[in-house]
Amino acid sequence: MTKILCIGAGYVGGPTMAMIAKNNLDVEVTVVDINQKRIDAWNSDDLPIYEPGLDEVVNEARGRNLFFSTDVEKGIADADIIFVSVNTPTKTFGQGAGYAADLQYWEKCARQILAVSTSDKIVVEKSTLPVRTADAMERILESGKTGVRFDVLSNPEFLAEGTAIVDLENPDRVLIGGHPTPEGQKAVQALVEVYAAWVKRENIITTNLWSSELSKLTANAFLAQRVSSINSISALCEATEADVGEVAYAIGKDSRIGSKFLKASVGFGGSCFKKDILNLVYLCKTYGLDEVAEYWHQVVKMNDYQERRFVARILKEMFNTIAGKRIALFGFAFKADTGDTRESPAILIARELLAENAEVVITDPQALEYAKTDLADVIDRVTFEPDPYKAAEGAHAVALLTEWKEYQTLDYQKIFDSMPQPSFLFDGRNHLDHQALHDIGFNVYSIGKAALKHI
Ligand code: UDX
Ligand code: ADP
Repeated sequence: MTKILCIGAGYVGGPTMAMIAKNNLDVEVTVVDINQKRIDAWNSDDLPIYEPGLDEVVNEARGRNLFFSTDVEKGIADADIIFVSVNTPTKTFGQGAGYAADLQYWEKCARQILAVSTSDKIVVEKSTLPVRTADAMERILESGKTGVRFDVLSNPEFLAEGTAIVDLENPDRVLIGGHPTPEGQKAVQALVEVYAAWVKRENIITTNLWSSELSKLTANAFLAQRVSSINSISALCEATEADVGEVAYAIGKDSRIGSKFLKASVGFGGSCFKKDILNLVYLCKTYGLDEVAEYWHQVVKMNDYQERRFVARILKEMFNTIAGKRIALFGFAFKADTGDTRESPAILIARELLAENAEVVITDPQALEYAKTDLADVIDRVTFEPDPYKAAEGAHAVALLTEWKEYQTLDYQKIFDSMPQPSFLFDGRNHLDHQALHDIGFNVYSIGKAALKHI
């Protein structure tokens, strides 16, 4: 029986391995993590991440051919294929700080694999890594001269949070990069077989290692660029009375452009977009490609501008002062259907509102715990309230930051009645029925559309 190990039980490792186990009854899959609490949660009914459909997949496979453990060494020793899915955040120190990937967790993993292995392994990079990381991985693994053979593959993850199970079940493509040597190709084929259990072969792309690594960064950079592009146009729409929704629809109908990822918003968040673009920027600079670096850096700068612009608009429209005013943030997660808040626009927005001495109240159906961690240093100045009605009570303004479905069906008359007048609603996701809100009496501001005011 083939044994697969995944090191790192996070948003990528957990769901991906559950899907592999579900579809490969002849494979035993173990997910390990150094974080005991996380592993305990994976072994309980209360999984550590919120992801629609994940419970069913885990329940089906767990205990049968899917296991969660903290015994990293035993996992490595037993495995034929090892997925490395540990965190690779942006470096906060030293050379490349703020741009380059912090590879310390990843390198620890590589060394541990080398130290513990007594049989041949295929090592799969699942975490997003700078291009040519596989080269470093190979050099570490080959430094032991233990007689054990390691074949390194790149197999980047393209799932998006909130739709992870659907994305894994029916991926646009699976990408596997390996060396063109006979051994490299044998390793590629072994991994192709794992995915071919449920993915059509024509959707499994095989490339060289460097193309695979670079494709991951490029895909995220292109997706983020679309969001930044439409967000840049949203600012122009607000100035010209064009409607960004109409513009997006009109251009998206062009089959060369396509309709996805053109939703103007308060800004993109998530663990990947910013990190991967900065990583790409650093890579370009390393190769002396300063113009290319600057081109992609602008995508991140535009996102920062969009977040700050949102706060500036709140301030301006609320008579240039929000000191002492209660402002309710509806949503803190970086998008709907996840409890993840990494790089969420809500973090900067909450901080900017506090800088204006506003009284900030945050509500979110899944993300309040992470919100408390993100704002730990200012926690005594923020209220966390699971009930959106209570959050809005007495607030001068509601600012919607995450497009949770439940926010569309709230009783906004009740909310309006509990707020001081004039009351303001800033929809950072163009998610609500603005005309209906205006009819109730709200002054409504959205992204890239004319404001609907009473004052
Ligand atoms: C992304 C990629 O989509 C995925 O393929 C990759 O593996 C990881 O990074 P994720 O970060 O989970 O996935 O979320 P995604 O759905 O891409 O959204 C990213 C951000 O962009 C969110 O904050 C979202 O709200 C925002 N967004 C997305 C917009 O503002 N407008 C859009 O039209 C689309
Ligand atoms: P992602 O969103 O990419 O899945 P996460 O941060 O959610 O990232 O998950 C990465 C996981 O990897 C964390 O749970 C962390 O504890 C784990 N991890 C980091 N280093 C190691 C290591 N050396 N051995 C095992 N697990 C590790």
